[in-house]
Amino acid sequence: MKGIILAGGSGTRLHPITRAVSKQLLPVYDKPMVYYPLSVLMLAGIRDILVISTPQDVPAFQRLLGDGGELGLRIGYAVQLEPNGLAEAFVIGAEHVGSDPAALVLGDNIFHGPGFSGLLQRSIAEIEAGDAGCILFGYAVRDPQRYGVAEADADGRLLSIEEKPALPRSNRAVTGLYFYDNDVVGIAAGLRPSARGELEITDVNRAYLERGDAKLVDLGRGFAWLDTGTHESLLEAGEYVRVLENRQGVRIACIEEIAMRMGFIDPAACYALGERQAKSGYGEYVMDVAKTFAG
Ligand code: G1P
Repeated sequence: MKGIILAGGSGTRLHPITRAVSKQLLPVYDKPMVYYPLSVLMLAGIRDILVISTPQDVPAFQRLLGDGGELGLRIGYAVQLEPNGLAEAFVIGAEHVGSDPAALVLGDNIFHGPGFSGLLQRSIAEIEAGDAGCILFGYAVRDPQRYGVAEADADGRLLSIEEKPALPRSNRAVTGLYFYDNDVVGIAAGLRPSARGELEITDVNRAYLERGDAKLVDLGRGFAWLDTGTHESLLEAGEYVRVLENRQGVRIACIEEIAMRMGFIDPAACYALGERQAKSGYGEYVMDVAKTFAG
């Protein structure tokens, strides 16, 4: 399974903060936002990842993440010239995906919850076994009209999906994490731009729905799917991370720790990554978990 992180857009709702910095590089408490979606792919076991961003922001992501080698990953970069829609990720990323199934995660989506890694890995196994062509993750929200909105039957078969409907048919928002079989490349290539001129991911999902090949996995109420789209929600997301990290003494979306726990790098390599950042509490934490893990 190949991974794509889409970190484009102009972040206009966060101006002036995002006038000079990519939204997905803004801090969410103690780390850049993109660490959170990157962690999701890593927890799913995905190691071959394409980061797509704007021409001006790609160099900053490269400075931050390099070629991924230090984390036992392969990270490549590609440019989205204009905000032409989320589904364009599979047009830009067609070569990267090749003949594999693919996961797309939006660079501003923050997920946190118990058993997430297992849930992700089971979902990928379903795609790889051909039991589903498309797996979406639904989350109950108070304001579904701001999102893609889906309905599913008792078995999780997707029944309907609409993009930002004025009258939502359910309170299930479709989160920014999408698993597909390899057909997604062809489906995305055949899309026509929507009324707002974009290649909509919801249209990709509808193509799978029409084939009867799409599933919606519900992220339950113990789960956090946090918004980062406004000044208010960005601060709240940081608060959420701060509260949990301080209470439990763990770090959420610590990519060095995850790389070690997933077996992508050994504890010595993890320790060295912490040592380079030893002046921050984050770096100290990375060194500590590496030492504890090594025993
Ligand atoms: C996009 C998708 C929407 C999805 C959301 C999740 O919306 O179009 O279906 O629910 O991401 O973050 P956007 O954030 O681009 O408005």
